Order: sequence, then structure tokens, then C-alpha cells
Amino acid sequence: MRQFQQMNIYCANTADGILVSRDKLKSLQLLSKHKIGIPKTAFVRDKKDVLPAIERVGGAPVIIKLIEGTQGIGVLLAETQETAISIIELLQSQKQNVLIQKFVAESKGKDIRAFVVGDQVVAAIRRVAQGAEFRSNIHRGGKAENIKLTDEYREAAIKATQIMGLRVAGVDILESKAGPQILEVNSSPGLEGIEKSTGLDIAGSIVDYIAAQVDFPEIDIRQRLTVSRGYGVTEIQIPSGSKFENIEIGKTDLKDKGINILTLYRAGKAYPNPSDKKVLNAEDRVLCFGKIDLMRDLIPEKTKKRRTPRAKKLVTKIVGHSD
Ligand SMILES: Nc1ncnc2c1ncn2[C@@H]1O[C@H](COP(=O)(O)OP(=O)(O)O)[C@@H](O)[C@H]1O
Ligand SMILES: [Mg+2]
Repeated sequence: MRQFQQMNIYCANTADGILVSRDKLKSLQLLSKHKIGIPKTAFVRDKKDVLPAIERVGGAPVIIKLIEGTQGIGVLLAETQETAISIIELLQSQKQNVLIQKFVAESKGKDIRAFVVGDQVVAAIRRVAQGAEFRSNIHRGGKAENIKLTDEYREAAIKATQIMGLRVAGVDILESKAGPQILEVNSSPGLEGIEKSTGLDIAGSIVDYIAAQVDFPEIDIRQRLTVSRGYGVTEIQIPSGSKFENIEIGKTDLKDKGINILTLYRAGKAYPNPSDKKVLNAEDRVLCFGKIDLMRDLIPEKTKKRRTPRAKKLVTKIVGHSD
């Protein structure tokens, strides 16, 4: 990808994003780290861990998945604990790593495919499996229904795409009792089924998006901002009881210290370029640009990551030299 960028060819999806999206374990780890809803999932390598893992995700019936499957082929539903264990053992004996996932029963046989381009969902369908099939992939015979996504589902799809480092993605979402749960973010989603069902020109949206990006390319802002020595970008959380709590940004000493707030994050919402009048709250997170040393002073002592020095202090003995 970097090479392509140097060659001045624009790629919508980053190489890293494509790699992660193809690995269900890595993707789910990344999404869950960013607090995106996913079905409870466990990864097991050892035989003795299989049973506890099945129990941890809620017991049978349980979903078993190959880490690199697509089009529904590597996804199985085991009705009983015994079946689950024998399937997993079989796969492991073939050196296949598997994920064990809670079967989201209320969503049996259906899921949502949200097609994200840039920071928008340009099309969405609900795919419904046919007959006894629980997998709703179009390749498994799933039929498409047109739907209008709620804000909650739309936000989840866009956020998941951005976290994966993708600009064009097909996000599979289960409609669980607990709200949207992301199954996977496909970095090369098929167009045919969703275009046919919605009648939308999704390929056209991708082309328009890419054309706009080429006119107004995204730059690696972190890299640009860190070019000045000693300056950097970092995210700081405001703990309760902090001197910044309940104070307008303009009334803090941040400006004097040359620290700028680029974005304020509060309760899952982002406020880019917050005004001086915006009042800071406890638990806000602020993305700042400024002198690294001064920003480090803002991190509360107890949350600072300190490296415990392993090596002993160097004792320098002067023994005189002979040359
Ligand atoms: N945890 C789950 N609970 C219920 N249904 C699921 C679950 N995981 C997958 N499915 C069904 O199986 C289909 C394929 O799963 P997915 O993880 O998207 O794999 P693939 O990459 O093969 O498409 C989904 O579209 C959905 O219908
Ligand atoms: Mg899928």
C-alpha cells in the first residue's frame, strides 16, 4: 500500500486493513478493543480448553468458525456440546485454528449487510437464509430484503470499518437482543446481490468517493504533525477530580502551554475542533497536539505507564587506564 501511495496511486483500502479483515480472530480482537459489540467469542488451541470455552460463550448450541473462512463455508452450528467438541477436535487435528462463538439465536438465519463507502453507509440489506440453513450468505442461498438502518446500526458499521483501516467494506451485523453485533468486516465485498436488491449504483458511489479522495487526499495527519521535533499527538483522559473538570477549554492553561485539542470524545461521540466555550467533563478523552513533555505532565500519575527497569543500575568503577 505504502509503495502504491508513493507511486501516486490511490488505494481505498489499506494493506493492513485488508490483512486484518481476512483474519476473523484479529478482526474481532481489534473491534472488541474499541468497544464495538461482537458476539461472545473464544479462541482455543489446546484440547483441554475446548469445553471451558464452549461454556464461556454460553454453551451449546454454539457456532464454530474457521479463522479465514468466507461465503459461509467455514461456519458451522453445533447443536450439542458433544458435536461441538468432536468438530473442534477434528478441525484441530487438521491444523485448523477455530473460533468458538455464541450462537445468537434471536438472529438465526438472518443478518444485515451494510455497505460502507468512506464515512457513509451507501446501501444496506437484510439477508435471510432459506430453509433449514442458518447462514444467510447470498452464496448459501440467502435472499435479500431492503431495509433502512437505524442510526445505531449505521454508526456501528461505519465505526467498525474505520477501526479496521478500511474505506470500502461490507459489514455483517447480527441483530441481537443487545443491539448490533458485528460478525465481520469484508474488505472486498460483493456488489451483485446488494445492487440488485436495492437498485443502487454502489460501484458508482465507490468511484465517486475515490475521485473525491484523489482531488482532496487524506494525509497522515499524525505523521505530518510529529515532524516538528518534540511535538506529537496523543489522547488524554480527564479523570474525575482533575483540575480540568467543569472548566471551559478556553479557561484552562492548555493554550498557554501550546497544547491544542483536536477532538473531544464524550460518551461515544466525537466533537472535532471543540470551541473555547466547550466545558470539559470528567471521563472526556481529548486528542491533543502539542509538546510531548507538557502533554505527558497532564497524564495523571496513577495511569501513567511506567516501565519497571529490569537492568540493575550500572555501577561505574574507575579502574584507571593503561594506554
Ligand atoms: N454467532 C452467530 N450467531 C448466529 N448466526 C451466525 C453467527 N455467526 C455467523 N452466523 C451466520 O453465518 C453467516 C456467515 O458467518 P460469517 O462470520 O459472516 O462468515 P463468512 O466470512 O463465511 O461469511 C452469517 O452471515 C450469519 O448468517
Ligand atoms: Mg460473512
